[in-house]
Amino acid sequence: MATSDIGLDKTLAGLGVSRAAQVTARFAEVRADFDGHFTTVRDESDWKMFRDRWLGRKSGVLTLITDNWLKPAPPDLKRVVGQELNTLRAHVEAKIEERRTAVEAGAESASLARERVDLSLPGVIRPIGSHHLIPQVFQEVEDIFVSIGFSVVEGPEIETPYYNFEALNIPEFHPVRDDMDTFYLGLPKDAPEPLLLRTHTSPMQIRIMEKCQPPVRVIVPGKVYRRDNPDATHSYVFHQVEGLAVDTDITFCDFTGTIEYFVKQFFGPGVKTRLRPSYFPFTEPSVECDVSCIFCGGIGTAAGGGTCSKCKGAGWIELFGAGMVDPAVYGFVNYDAKKVSGFAFGMGIDRLAMLKYGLDDIQVFFQNDVRFLRQFP
Ligand code: FA5
Repeated sequence: MATSDIGLDKTLAGLGVSRAAQVTARFAEVRADFDGHFTTVRDESDWKMFRDRWLGRKSGVLTLITDNWLKPAPPDLKRVVGQELNTLRAHVEAKIEERRTAVEAGAESASLARERVDLSLPGVIRPIGSHHLIPQVFQEVEDIFVSIGFSVVEGPEIETPYYNFEALNIPEFHPVRDDMDTFYLGLPKDAPEPLLLRTHTSPMQIRIMEKCQPPVRVIVPGKVYRRDNPDATHSYVFHQVEGLAVDTDITFCDFTGTIEYFVKQFFGPGVKTRLRPSYFPFTEPSVECDVSCIFCGGIGTAAGGGTCSKCKGAGWIELFGAGMVDPAVYGFVNYDAKKVSGFAFGMGIDRLAMLKYGLDDIQVFFQNDVRFLRQFP
């Protein structure tokens, strides 16, 4: 109802009110107006408008009643108008305060509802990468050797010629260095000794034996470097796992048993192992370890007839070099060659992975083509 509709712009005399009962009736009308509008106040902006209409200092309803009804009231009505006004004020103030609390609580719960995190909603799905095939194969190899008592250690990729060659019984000008020529670091002229990227993981044999007394049973996974031209089976950076077992009573039988166990665990029980004489300056005797061709089952003939392209009809595939640790090597690490014996091996992990997963080009490991990588999640 507008201010004029309930007579707030006029004095009581102007409204024809001259008796106490009429005053009470007028106030009842005003209160009914208040109560009627009160129910429509829902949010904060309604509440502010409502408060200003009733309690506003300049032109709020209570101010108008004070100015237009109370102050000019004749003396015989002043008391009743004052009483009615006080009752109305108490009602208005209490109700407006009550609604403020309710409106604030409502706003809070509305904002809480707006901000609530629904934990049952699906989250942002981010594609999760996977391990490259080489670390996967490293892990497979490590699991097998750890299960039979080997520990895993890692070593530096930058080596001195002493660890990479000399302590492995490969003196300067030994022809075998030609096969392993590598990348030397460009060092200042006054550097104490040359440094090179290790050509194999075998230097770790020396570092481990320098630090530990027998029994020693370790494998060493890691990257190695050679100045080899890249082709389907060669890369200038590739991966090896070195193995070393030294104790007082290790025989060639322990060596063959370990290798056979590994091969069967890695490729499957049907795969056979073969050892051929070979040469490494740091093992004596030295062998190349072959496995029966896992593509043609060792018969040398492809499934559709014709020669197996993987083993070239031989039925065998070369796997890695190994042997019994040469007694000369013990001399470099202060082991008593008369009391200890052991075996060592060095596997090319890239080639193992190629064989196991039927890959015909080593370069795929280094090209980071996701179409290849996704095949090995
Ligand atoms: C060695 O590196 C010896 N240190 C292995 C060894 C350790 C023998 C302990 C005895 C005792 P070799 O040069 O053959 O050996 O290399 C070992 C394996 O590394 C090879 O069988 C082959 O699988 C892999 N390999 C060698 N050159 C490359 C290359 N350029 N790219 C990829 N793989 C290679």
